[in-house]
Amino acid sequence: MQVFVFKTKEEAAKAAVSVFAAELMKKPNAIFGLATGSSPIPLYHEMIKLNKEGAMDFSKCRSWNLDEYVGLQPDHVCSYRRFMNEELFDHVNIDKANTHVPSGIAADMEKEAADYDAAIAEAGGIDVQLLGIGRNGHIGFNEPDDHFTYETHVITLTDSTIDANTRFFNNRDEVPRHAISMGVGNIMKAKTVVLVANGEDKAQAIYDTVKGDITPNVPASILRCHPNCLIFVDEAAASKL
Ligand code: F6R
Repeated sequence: MQVFVFKTKEEAAKAAVSVFAAELMKKPNAIFGLATGSSPIPLYHEMIKLNKEGAMDFSKCRSWNLDEYVGLQPDHVCSYRRFMNEELFDHVNIDKANTHVPSGIAADMEKEAADYDAAIAEAGGIDVQLLGIGRNGHIGFNEPDDHFTYETHVITLTDSTIDANTRFFNNRDEVPRHAISMGVGNIMKAKTVVLVANGEDKAQAIYDTVKGDITPNVPASILRCHPNCLIFVDEAAASKL
């Protein structure tokens, strides 16, 4: 695991995006694992800029997102499919048919999860996986637990995550209680992992990830066992290291 600290989240995003840009130059049909939330937004801005400048060509790129809320239609204002369209896919030359977000409205969610894993494996696995991190150390929606869950699965969100995500909804009651998420196994199988975090409220999670015990109670701590995990943080998120 390598940690890179920058003055601002914009500088961190510029550095992090170079990993994705280099991958696309090396392998035009690279598979990216993508994330939602506020942390990746500066990085998506950089991707859009590089695409417009001709330095990132997404025409053959394929993507699989980490997660989706259970119960939200893809066009719901808070769905992760809609977020990805609005924050990235609508602004770059990616073929939307090559982009994948788990369905939160499948009739059989367990089948949806198994099919999602099978599709990633069939495509050859994720080349570069982007992650944010929750204040409680979650990655994707893998919440603190007494064991790691390896495959895509449906989870019950913790109070901490519901509180943190209420800012995207009209009120706390509207936040779905369940989500479908890749497991830590999917994430660990990616050839490269890029984690971005900014702000003081992520400082403890970053400390626990980098310096604490490797434990399912801090899901991101398993990234210390990954052979190529790069962490890009601003000074505030690095302030406890
Ligand atoms: C989103 C995701 C989550 C977020 C995390 C941080 O796809 O998988 O793990 O990365 O909750 O969210 P922000 O960036 O909004 O603080």
